[in-house]
Amino acid sequence: MLLGLASGRGAVSSSQVDFSRDVLTILSDNCYECHGPDEKARKAKLRFDTKEGAFRVKDGKTVIVPGKSAESELVRRVTSSDPEEVMPPRKSNRKLTASQIGLLRRWVDEGAKWGVHWAFVAPARSRLPRSKFKGWARNGIDYFILARLEKEGLKPAAEARRETLIRRVTLDLTGLPPTPAEVDAFVSDRTANAYEKLVDRLLESPRFGERMAVDWLDLARYADTHGYQADRYRPMWPWRDWVIKAFNQNLPYDQFVTWQLAGDLLPQATKE
Ligand code: HEC
Repeated sequence: MLLGLASGRGAVSSSQVDFSRDVLTILSDNCYECHGPDEKARKAKLRFDTKEGAFRVKDGKTVIVPGKSAESELVRRVTSSDPEEVMPPRKSNRKLTASQIGLLRRWVDEGAKWGVHWAFVAPARSRLPRSKFKGWARNGIDYFILARLEKEGLKPAAEARRETLIRRVTLDLTGLPPTPAEVDAFVSDRTANAYEKLVDRLLESPRFGERMAVDWLDLARYADTHGYQADRYRPMWPWRDWVIKAFNQNLPYDQFVTWQLAGDLLPQATKE
């Protein structure tokens, strides 16, 4: 997921504007407050959270005219220099950047193709990109890395020493450096799948769940204390431990989310 986002951003300028990635984010951040799902807050009976709403006809016209940014009220409003007309309105304290306006204009000119948030699109297998570095790629992901390297005019680095490899992968998967004994064992393991065995060992380690939980807990603003002003007892750790366990047991993402949002509403809910 993170990979997809990161590479998507960089690719914006050359490829076609992508509705979910480029347009929906601008609309939801800057327009939904007044043109979104909340009917009471909605202005000008215009909503951009549904296709029907965005293409609603008024006086025989839609505010988005596919292929024609110059005739689209949406583009006219976001580019207007009249403070009474510009969208989002000045008083909302929001302002589109030049590149956001450019994306909206290009999206309209490219046909204003509507879509849904990428999270609701079933993933489809991509074709492997071709590369001039033959024989380097060992798995599907490698081909995509190569393609991006080539786009940036870079070439793959030589494979790292074994000591470096085990240090990197152990830090990646457990957040800790390997012990000297672990390094020695990997360096002297001459079997063909030594690296795969190493990764499997790290994935099975309880440290793996702890490492993975860090990002999730950070996002949820987890803390063991209230902070220095009120350092009282804070019994949040059972949830922390639950998250760690969920990663270590490879709990499917839908269940992971359901448990956290509505664990108490599950049939036969347990203390957990
Ligand atoms: C703070 C509230 C607010 C926000 C945020 C906002 N609008 Fe508006 N919008 C309005 C109001 C109020 C009107 C009706 C008055 C007018 O036309 O200026 C309007 C009207 C419009 C119209 C004209 C509708 C018509 O029928 O002619 C368009 C197009 C529009 N907004 C697009 C946008 C877009 C695109 C964004 C986000 C980039 C946005 N607005 C953000 C309040 C808002």
